[in-house]
Amino acid sequence: MWKVLHKLKDIVFYDAERQFYAKLFPGSVQIKDVLKMRKMDHADLPEVLAIEEQNYEFPWPEGIFKDCMRTMTYTNWVCLAPDDRVIGYCIISVAAGEAHVMNISVCPKFRRQGVGRHMLLHLIQFARPRAESLFLEVRPSNPHAIELYKQSGFRQIGVRKDYYPASEGREDAIMFSLNLSADD
Ligand SMILES: CC(C)(COP(=O)(O)OP(=O)(O)OC[C@H]1O[C@@H](n2cnc3c(N)ncnc32)[C@H](O)[C@@H]1OP(=O)(O)O)[C@@H](O)C(=O)NCCC(=O)NCCS
Repeated sequence: MWKVLHKLKDIVFYDAERQFYAKLFPGSVQIKDVLKMRKMDHADLPEVLAIEEQNYEFPWPEGIFKDCMRTMTYTNWVCLAPDDRVIGYCIISVAAGEAHVMNISVCPKFRRQGVGRHMLLHLIQFARPRAESLFLEVRPSNPHAIELYKQSGFRQIGVRKDYYPASEGREDAIMFSLNLSADD
C-alpha cells in the first residue's frame, strides 16, 4: 500500500515539477511533455473557433460545437499549454460499441510538436474501455493527418465518395479504423 502511495506521489510531484519548470523556463521542457487535457466548456469556444477557422477551409460554425457539447454520446476535449492557453481540441463520439473521431485540430503555431499525437492517444485511451473500434475520416489532400493516423495504428478500410465539400465540387473521404481490442 505504502509503495503504491509513494509511486503516486512521485508521479504527481514529477508532473507538477515539469509544469513548474515549463512556466519558469519555457524553452527547457518540450511542449508535448507538459500538455493538459480537460473537457471543453462554453468559455473555450472563442479560442476553439479561432483555431478551427485557421485550420479548415470549411470550418465548423459555433453551433456545431455547441451541438457536440449538448450531445450525450459526444465528449469534447481541449488541450492546454502550460500557460492554460487552448492549443488544440478533439471530439469523439461513442455509441453502440463504436467510437468515432469527429474532429482533431492543433493551433498552427504549435504543430509538429507532438500535440496532435498526444490528443489522438488520449482519444484512443478514452475509447478503449468503451468501444471495440475507433473510426475516422480524412481528406486524401491531408497527408500530415494521414501519416499521424497510420503511425498510430489505424488501417484504411474504405473510401466515402464525395464526402466533403471542396473548393471545386466535392472531395472523397478516406475511412480509417483502429481495432481497440487488439494488444498492439
Ligand atoms: C493533423 C494534425 C492534427 C497533426 O497535429 P500535429 O500536432 O502537428 O502532429 P504531431 O506533431 O503530433 O505529429 C505526429 C505525426 O504526424 C505526422 N505529421 C504531422 N505534421 C506533419 C508535417 N507537417 N509533415 C509531415 N508529417 C507530419 C508525422 O508522422 C508526425 O510524426 P513525427 O513527428 O514523429 O514524424 C495538425 O496538422 C492539424 O491540426 N491539422 C489541421 C486540422 C486537421 O487537418 N485535422 C485532421 C482532420 S482529419
